[in-house]
Amino acid sequence: MRRFNFRAYRVPGTNFPAAELDYGLLADRLRGDRLLIDAIAIVERNQLNQSASGRRYGELRLKMTNRVEVRPGQFAMLKPHADFEPLLRRAMAYYRCEDLADGLRVEFIYQILGRGTQSLSRLRPGDMVDLLGPLGNTYDTQPARGRRALLVAGGVGSAALYMLAENLRSEGVETRLFIGGASAGDLPGVDRFEELLGAENVICATIDGTRGTEGFVTEPLQDHLRSIEARGPIIYACGPDPMLHRVAQIAEKSETTTQLSLESPMACGFGICVGCAVAIKSDCPEGFVYGKVCTDGPVFRSEDLYWAE
Ligand SMILES: Cc1cc2nc3c(=O)[nH]c(=O)nc-3n(C[C@H](O)[C@H](O)[C@H](O)COP(=O)(O)OP(=O)(O)OC[C@H]3O[C@@H](n4cnc5c(N)ncnc54)[C@H](O)[C@@H]3O)c2cc1C
Ligand code: FES
Repeated sequence: MRRFNFRAYRVPGTNFPAAELDYGLLADRLRGDRLLIDAIAIVERNQLNQSASGRRYGELRLKMTNRVEVRPGQFAMLKPHADFEPLLRRAMAYYRCEDLADGLRVEFIYQILGRGTQSLSRLRPGDMVDLLGPLGNTYDTQPARGRRALLVAGGVGSAALYMLAENLRSEGVETRLFIGGASAGDLPGVDRFEELLGAENVICATIDGTRGTEGFVTEPLQDHLRSIEARGPIIYACGPDPMLHRVAQIAEKSETTTQLSLESPMACGFGICVGCAVAIKSDCPEGFVYGKVCTDGPVFRSEDLYWAE
């Protein structure tokens, strides 16, 4: 039986302790044999934006001295190091990662909602952030090979899809993004996706019609699926539950393989608190059992999820 390895160190240039964990025994639960970092990251940039709809967003760029492999769909638990409140870290999908000679640069996009994200919005360059990750399973790109991939993002759900888009492109998979939000300013990362995929492969939908088609993003998705042949693409989606539910319904009708990443509120992020329960279809009399979004997900096959009507 493997042991739990732990390396304590100081963040270079500071007196702050950090730890590197080879999570050995936890590896099976966390799905993989990868390094999990409980680290202190340094803020390089934290850019705040406000959309015309009134929603506020931050783009947070951090540098870490640790090197760790991050895969598309995985997330980290974050909080400012200097803040006691809120006590619990918040789950954020890795948006972009860049290997550096002396560590790793990671980026996140967050919507400012409550106390956790408000505290992230106060971070300034040079501040320290407690970061536990990478956590959770990943999008599986294997079923997309030889097919086309349709990515569906609702608001900050786009963050979880960017590295996936990079991977699909590098594997030669034709990739198209459908991204929706309340208004033109509620499509985080859309310009970067256009650079990566080409503007013709990024389809926008906004409720107020200020960018792309007017209405929900699931409408152009449905139109697209109707216009193509049966053995069509694979769908990867991330966004609010109502959007994911609609994507699941559309996918079921068109018999399209679909992977959904859930954004359930989380307390621990690694399977201990049971705060992120999700209903998974089962043969038992109730029709479902509970799984955990943090360790069984956050990515699920749509046909495995049990949606309460
Ligand atoms: C795997 C995963 C990845 C995520 N990635 C991102 C990301 O990249 N960017 C990002 O902005 N958020 C992401 N989230 C959601 C984020 O963790 C929550 O929005 C966060 O907990 C909000 O913290 P808060 O303290 O600001 O708000 P809270 O005080 O926790 O809540 C404020 C308000 O927001 C509502 N709320 C809280 N969480 C959610 C949620 N998940 N969905 C809808 N409403 C919610 C609450 O009901 C409340 O009304 C992710 C969640 C998961 C599980
Ligand atoms: S967040 Fe604690 S068990 Fe999933």
